[in-house]
Amino acid sequence: MEIWPAESIWELISPLLPGFTVEVLPEIDSSNTELMRRARAGQTEPTLLVAERQTAGRGRLGRPWQSAVGDSLTFSLSLPYAPRDWSGLSLAVGLAVAESLHPDIGLKWPNDLWVAERKLGGILIEAASSGGRSQVVIGIGLNIRPRSAEGLSTPPAALTDLWHEATAGAALLQLMPPLARALQDFEQRGFAPLQQRFETRDVLRGREVGTSDGQHGQCLGVSPNGSLRLWCAGQEVAINSSEVSVRPRI
Ligand code: BTN
Repeated sequence: MEIWPAESIWELISPLLPGFTVEVLPEIDSSNTELMRRARAGQTEPTLLVAERQTAGRGRLGRPWQSAVGDSLTFSLSLPYAPRDWSGLSLAVGLAVAESLHPDIGLKWPNDLWVAERKLGGILIEAASSGGRSQVVIGIGLNIRPRSAEGLSTPPAALTDLWHEATAGAALLQLMPPLARALQDFEQRGFAPLQQRFETRDVLRGREVGTSDGQHGQCLGVSPNGSLRLWCAGQEVAINSSEVSVRPRI
């Protein structure tokens, strides 16, 4: 059984996010879905919701998100949020999580955490508006211990590949303060100041990539607004759409 350091997280995060609460639920459809329901119902206090089991976990592009109960970390953080520009937020979140956990965690635009060419985790960001104010729900799923490929062509990466004693609770405690600070910084300054740090972990930069909408070219990295830069047929193309997925071709 996982021991969750809820009290320690609350003590660290409350000074940054006044009114902050931590909840651990044994089962929910999806921690993002639940916090979006609450936001739409006007419950906007900063909330960390950890789900030990999700029955309808969601990924980007309407995909399901499956996680091994007991061997993964699935949580969402909801807070009132009003950046001038939202572009690059998933990159800023990924960077905060990667930097807080291990130097060898790479980032695959726009929302994946990678280790050695395999997916370690993903980020799902949703926004709601309540009473004219905007609320963000940031959902993160991380594989903590290895699990079988379950129909995937390669088994996903696990945090214990890099940090042998990692547990879901220890990872959450370690990533929450940097994540909360990164969200505050992003709200003030956006993605541009993070561009170079993202570059050091960018797993696509310099590689031939293809997009789900049929474009392909060499990845030049990310721009100051977080768009993906591709060199396609002799010209630079910026990929902004969150509806697009990108894969390395080699
Ligand atoms: C992706 O890689 O497509 C994003 C995956 C996001 C999964 C997390 S798990 C916690 C939160 N609740 C969900 O239903 N999804 C996110």
